[in-house]
Amino acid sequence: MLIHAIPANTAYEFAADVRDGLTRPGQKELPSKYLYDDVGSALFEVISHLPEYGLTRADERLLQRHAGEIVDRLDAPVAVAELGSGSGKKTRWILEAFSRRGPTSYYPVEISRSALVMCERELSDIDSISIVGFEREYLDGLLEVAAYRRPGQHLLVLFLGSTIGNFDRPVGVKFLAAVRGILEPGDSLLLGTDLEKPALQLHKAYDDELGVTAAFNLNLLARINRELDADFDLSQFAHVARINHEARSVEMHLQSQRRQTVRIPAADLRIEFAEGETIWTESSHKYSAEEVFPMASDAGFCCQAQWIDEQWPFAENLLIAE
Ligand SMILES: C[S@@+](CC[C@H](N)C(=O)[O-])C[C@H]1O[C@@H](n2cnc3c(N)ncnc32)[C@H](O)[C@@H]1O
Repeated sequence: MLIHAIPANTAYEFAADVRDGLTRPGQKELPSKYLYDDVGSALFEVISHLPEYGLTRADERLLQRHAGEIVDRLDAPVAVAELGSGSGKKTRWILEAFSRRGPTSYYPVEISRSALVMCERELSDIDSISIVGFEREYLDGLLEVAAYRRPGQHLLVLFLGSTIGNFDRPVGVKFLAAVRGILEPGDSLLLGTDLEKPALQLHKAYDDELGVTAAFNLNLLARINRELDADFDLSQFAHVARINHEARSVEMHLQSQRRQTVRIPAADLRIEFAEGETIWTESSHKYSAEEVFPMASDAGFCCQAQWIDEQWPFAENLLIAE
């Protein structure tokens, strides 16, 4: 695979975002995109195998079952872009269906270089599929992919795994509208959305018994230590998953176990934590199957088809750009 690599976030931007998030009045925050360095991407891959985290398996069952129908609904020729591909394991079903139709270009867009490398390793054996990876943020990468399109070629954008849920609801619609702005009428977006489910099941999915999700979350502090020379004592922070009923989301936090001071020299920061205070690191919003239709139309798409998993409430939605 060819990787177009301009590291998506420089150390300077990382330091600025850490500074901004940890000096906010009230709730301290860190952007969830920084969870995915080499260690974080590897840990996320393990999370996707955990018995408590049924989301990835539901997504994959739907793709396996309906890939042929999804591809048949799209007019050839099609190029496939994937936003935040991760390891790309589930994408195999879609790409194999395209490969039966003829040569197809696949463009994974990833902030994490190691995820792009995993993705290439996972998918490079599929006949007639050429892979060009973009180490970029979602929209920057998609803009470049769109510039590659040949006259008459349609684009299918994959945004799987309910990564849309990491955005607050209104920001998620704005993000979809920005994706639509890069596309042409008739292009399509396959959007995975995790659906609402009982609180206990949700809580376990984000706080597993083995502690892999806890390690994934704590790795963000370890990453700040590694890359920004900070002195977070990881044993003095704990992973907490919280259900936010009003927002219909699960939040991940890192909770300070005592009053403490942390130094982050590369961000020119000395930061105080009270006992019990948290850093909010990620939200995963959950959806009703019905709300995807108005979300799509508010963003300039029409939801043409929706498939729902029977074992783990999850919807795969095929949106067409209007
Ligand atoms: C929740 S994981 C989902 C991975 C995969 N799509 C799946 O369904 O299993 C989100 C992926 O998006 C990538 N990512 C997160 N923020 C990003 C951003 N702003 N731009 C590009 N990629 C991003 C991460 O590196 C990670 O691989």
